[in-house]
Amino acid sequence: MTALEKITAPQSRVSGTALYDWDYLVQEDKAHRLIYTDPAIFEAEMTQIFGGTWTYLAHESEIPKENDFITRRMGLRPLIIVRDGEGTVRALYNRCTHRGTTLCRWDKGNTKSFQCPYHGWNFLNTGRLRGVPWPDGYADDMRDPKYNLAQVPRVASYRGFIFGTLNMDALPLEEHLGPIAKIIDEWLDRNPGGKVVVCEANRFRYKGNWKLAYDNSCDGYHVAYSHRSLLETENRFAGENAKGMAYYRNSPDALAMYMRYTGHGNHFKDKRPNLEKRPGGLWALESAHPGMEHYESDFLRRYGDRAFALLDLAGSEPVNINVFPNFSLLGNHIQVFEPIGVAETNAIWYGTMIVEDGTVPSDAVPDINALRMRTQEGFPNFGEVDDIANFEQIQQGLMAVEDEWVYMNRGFGIPGRVKTGEDGTITAPATDEAFMREHFKEWKRLMKGPQNLAITREP
Ligand code: FES
Ligand SMILES: [Fe+2]
Repeated sequence: MTALEKITAPQSRVSGTALYDWDYLVQEDKAHRLIYTDPAIFEAEMTQIFGGTWTYLAHESEIPKENDFITRRMGLRPLIIVRDGEGTVRALYNRCTHRGTTLCRWDKGNTKSFQCPYHGWNFLNTGRLRGVPWPDGYADDMRDPKYNLAQVPRVASYRGFIFGTLNMDALPLEEHLGPIAKIIDEWLDRNPGGKVVVCEANRFRYKGNWKLAYDNSCDGYHVAYSHRSLLETENRFAGENAKGMAYYRNSPDALAMYMRYTGHGNHFKDKRPNLEKRPGGLWALESAHPGMEHYESDFLRRYGDRAFALLDLAGSEPVNINVFPNFSLLGNHIQVFEPIGVAETNAIWYGTMIVEDGTVPSDAVPDINALRMRTQEGFPNFGEVDDIANFEQIQQGLMAVEDEWVYMNRGFGIPGRVKTGEDGTITAPATDEAFMREHFKEWKRLMKGPQNLAITREP
């Protein structure tokens, strides 16, 4: 490990002081409006949560070759996620050590070094300062490690998903993921070679707190109401063949689908048990997308009996997998929540493609990926907009200062409804808010601190 610098974070101002009583602000069945609206709480979250726990940064397929990089954020910190010349994935602070400007202004690229646009300091992609213009103007030794770029000290990936944390005491990533790793495995393993490649994104920005998106990520209660127009549109031409979201139309809690909390703020909503287990079962759930019938008849002609199993690779897997605080897998997408301010958030939907591994006819791969792109356009364009409208309206509603509480007590206090398994996971019917009560326990644990946070620099 290279030189660690301990962080004296702004949280010392809030945690352990009388300013905030976290146990009052987040109770078993309700949360106080301040946690969504208070700039000081937001500021503390940017260190205690986005820094204090594993945060999703990028996917390895976005930087497949040596010297590839992509710019991302961890909370508000701008980062360069780079695969250096030795193949090591690093999360460099995108912040020049001279006067602090962002060093790299590109979204992505391939380079061995970054030159600061302001005064031309040049850094290797390991983070080390390589040189400065007219060095004889400095009395200081410019090889002092303090001039090397700050880095996230712990970067790890789980099957291609790259996470980072500043917390030296955080569990190793795989232990932190715990039981949800298996659900991520299942999500990946249905694809050829157990892999996906991340492609471009649908990008949304909403005027609301980042937690509103995470609170919604496992919410099965809103679907029939918030997404009613989409549900009706999807099913207008469906006849007997009810489409995916139709599960929520009548008695969602009586169906086999469920939500499960797996610890550390992570949870998933599993609609797969509702599915007919047959080739084409997943494909049959897809609502109408442009070109679907044409592809289907073409696949039947080209691949005969195999056609529907191949078309299932284009279908959206009916499970929402959420890793606190900023990552979701849903359908064929990766969704990432990026806080911008206490009342502003990016919600970014990255598409994923399948790759050839010899088990799928190679001429089917681009067609399956074209169909996946249609599913990529479907929910984000017709469903996410409903959710975002709610997030923005909640943020406005929470400006009513005297009306203090947000309730998350659905399913709470009903004997036998919420079940704790032997492995500690918590399972409840699809519309329960147990997931939210549980992820707020993790939020509170992290906000209470203290945490052993650090950055690192090359020596
Ligand atoms: S701010 Fe980067 S070289 Fe001056
Ligand atoms: Fe929704």
